[in-house]
Amino acid sequence: MTLWIPGPTEVRPSILAELARPPIGHRSAGMKDLHHRIDGPLALAFGLAPDSPSTVAVHSASGTAIMEAALHGVGERVLSLINGAFSKRFAAVAEALGKEVTRIEVPMGQVVDPMKVAQALDTKGPFDAMTVVSSETSTGTATPLAPLAKVLENHPNVRFLVDVVSMIAAGPIDFDTHRVDFALAGVQKALALPPGIAVMCCSERYLAEAQKRNRPSWYLDPVRIIEGHAAQKTPATPAVPHYYALAQQLEDISAGVTLPKGHAPVEGPAAWQARYEVHSAMRARTAEWAEGHGLSLLPAPEFAAPAVSCIQAGKLNVAALVAGLAEEDYSISNGYGDLKGKTFRIGHMGDHSLQGLEELLTAADKVIARL
Ligand SMILES: Cc1ncc(COP(=O)(O)O)c(C=O)c1O
Repeated sequence: MTLWIPGPTEVRPSILAELARPPIGHRSAGMKDLHHRIDGPLALAFGLAPDSPSTVAVHSASGTAIMEAALHGVGERVLSLINGAFSKRFAAVAEALGKEVTRIEVPMGQVVDPMKVAQALDTKGPFDAMTVVSSETSTGTATPLAPLAKVLENHPNVRFLVDVVSMIAAGPIDFDTHRVDFALAGVQKALALPPGIAVMCCSERYLAEAQKRNRPSWYLDPVRIIEGHAAQKTPATPAVPHYYALAQQLEDISAGVTLPKGHAPVEGPAAWQARYEVHSAMRARTAEWAEGHGLSLLPAPEFAAPAVSCIQAGKLNVAALVAGLAEEDYSISNGYGDLKGKTFRIGHMGDHSLQGLEELLTAADKVIARL
């Protein structure tokens, strides 16, 4: 079964093979070497310039755990922008930690208007942090960070916490340009790795403030995680096989190895940019295919996410489409939560190619013709 769900996604055999390496001691020179291999290209994934003061890190946990870690480093008053299941989760995690959460919520598939954010910051604050999900995997909706960064220019004490779970390695994050303070992601989406570890990036501002706060966690203390990673000493025994896979995949992406055959040789930031272009092309092709069936994406075209398309099903029987494709050995997803039966999602992420997408869409044409 080929995974075209919104994560986890397909992992290349050469990356899976990295998981089978014999264990090494996590205080060994080999582990230091792994940290070294990871840090450079991971900084590229977050869009950091070589002289950036921001810091990347890895932790053996899922994306949700790092939402929690990020929130341990900020004050009590949190503004949460909600436009789907995972942005709702970010707010729920903040509440579970005892934060005072103010929500701005819009229907699934929409994006919170930056003007409304400015208004909330001016009239309902002061806030210590703002949470946002840059690509809502539940609705295939991308929230542009630039307008939010602009709004936050007037609120320098608000730490900007961004979930980039289904954005990283599918589209640019530009962490410093967008004044992000903490970005977090699992690796099972567009990084095309098996689930099990998470990656993050934090600003100097965030780290300096977090160092001074009471942080009621040990394993999810962001300062312990970030400083431990920087010192190449993980606080606890890490999932070393996943570090091998991450190091190899990041190196491969940075060397342009994961790009479609025949792509001009590129490396470094240009290779990451080329990967984003592959994702954009898959998004455009999926939207065009949907249109050909009289269907449309849930979000407005300018907010369509690069790694996952959420298609409004109209009269199409979603369960039958998903089941029909499963018979053809392709896995796509029904809509999320209330959108079940009304939408379906195609995760065109990671190392998938336009050619592979074409094969999936041809199979989908066949199933739809049968229905
Ligand atoms: C946007 C987004 N945020 C958070 C999560 C949660 O990540 P995890 O399941 O790794 O905890 C997901 C998982 O699908 C997601 O898509």
